Amino acid sequence: MFRRCLLPRHALRLGYRRTLATVAQGEYAKRRLTYPISVAPMVDISTPYFLELLHIISGGQRYAYYTEMHFAQAILTHQSHLHAYLGPPRPNVVVQLGGSDPNVMARAATCLEERGYHEININVGCPSKAVQHGQFGAVLMKSPELVRDILRAMQSSVSIPVTVKCRLGVDHLDSYDFLHSFVDTLGAFPHLIVHARKCLLKGLSPKQNRMIPPLNYERVYALAEALPDLPITLNGGIAEPEQVTDALHKVDGCMIGRRVMDSPLFLQILDQEIYNTPEDAVKSPIAIIREFLDYAQILPEEPDYNTGRWNLPPLTVLSKPLVKLFSGKPGRDFRRELQIQLQKTKNYDLESPVTQALLAANLITDASQLQHPNPHLHSHPCRATAA
Ligand SMILES: Cc1cc2nc3c(=O)[nH]c(=O)nc-3n(C[C@H](O)[C@H](O)[C@H](O)COP(=O)(O)O)c2cc1C
Repeated sequence: MFRRCLLPRHALRLGYRRTLATVAQGEYAKRRLTYPISVAPMVDISTPYFLELLHIISGGQRYAYYTEMHFAQAILTHQSHLHAYLGPPRPNVVVQLGGSDPNVMARAATCLEERGYHEININVGCPSKAVQHGQFGAVLMKSPELVRDILRAMQSSVSIPVTVKCRLGVDHLDSYDFLHSFVDTLGAFPHLIVHARKCLLKGLSPKQNRMIPPLNYERVYALAEALPDLPITLNGGIAEPEQVTDALHKVDGCMIGRRVMDSPLFLQILDQEIYNTPEDAVKSPIAIIREFLDYAQILPEEPDYNTGRWNLPPLTVLSKPLVKLFSGKPGRDFRRELQIQLQKTKNYDLESPVTQALLAANLITDASQLQHPNPHLHSHPCRATAA
């Protein structure tokens, strides 16, 4: 039952497979990014627990995982327990920051570097009212000199890469020339991610701003041609492996948001079709849940939690990423059953409500199916990879 949802939805013709395999071998246009494919920053989605799930699904070698946007000031406030607040630093995790004060952004960058984080991205694309109120996010596209100053302040404070994620434009500033000049003003930096649609600061909600302004990939490709020294990642509307391959022939990277939000197992489709992972090496949803439960079990032992510097996440927040592992009716049943079970739970224990919900949704027939095949062989991904 689980295997079916792991299989690619479209046929793999030989020629098609060959194109994808070429990308896996690195014969695409530029080869300048360690992780050409990335999972986008998404507020309330890209939590430490979601990133943990992605690591369990596909490890840390293939994709960069961006955290949700964090206010620079919040990084300073939470500096004593950043590993719990953001998740552990890993080479493929990029922390996204929002802010407009170069000094605060630079101090936040320093904190992140000191705590072992490997890369920082500046949000210059979020159109939400709260973010506009703070004069950062997409509104910053109207002040390229300020973005340049923020970048410079951060770059002179840290040696880890500081990158930028922006839109094609904002409001009436939406021509190719505007985009080119915006990027030009920023000076040298190592990586630009472009959400390939403009945004409107008034009249559209953030959700509408991710759907209504039309995508324009050609403009991003034109920018990449005009700025051959700047690694560029295309973002927006990418939902199939062919789109990934296509983009990687024209730009350095491809960032995927909602497709992974709605179905984290999309990474397994990419694993198989782009990285040629054999089907029997792909984990089942139940095996993934097993590993996630192990992670949840040792979470209270992490220093930031057990020294009381930061509270454990509510079980509803911790378990939220799991419900997207099943699509269709089983997924709905699992989500509903899990909510019911979590309401009854008195202890900080995810295993029992998840097991009951899987049983009630007929996703397992016996609790023993959630046990390790060989407990002695088991090693927890957190212990293996946490820096
Ligand atoms: C729920 C949600 C939250 C988002 N939060 C952020 C954010 O914190 N920072 C950011 O740069 N973009 C954010 N985005 C935008 C995504 O990073 C991405 O640019 C956008 O969804 C387009 O990519 P997609 O079509 O692959 O989803 C968010 C998107 C979603 C769906």
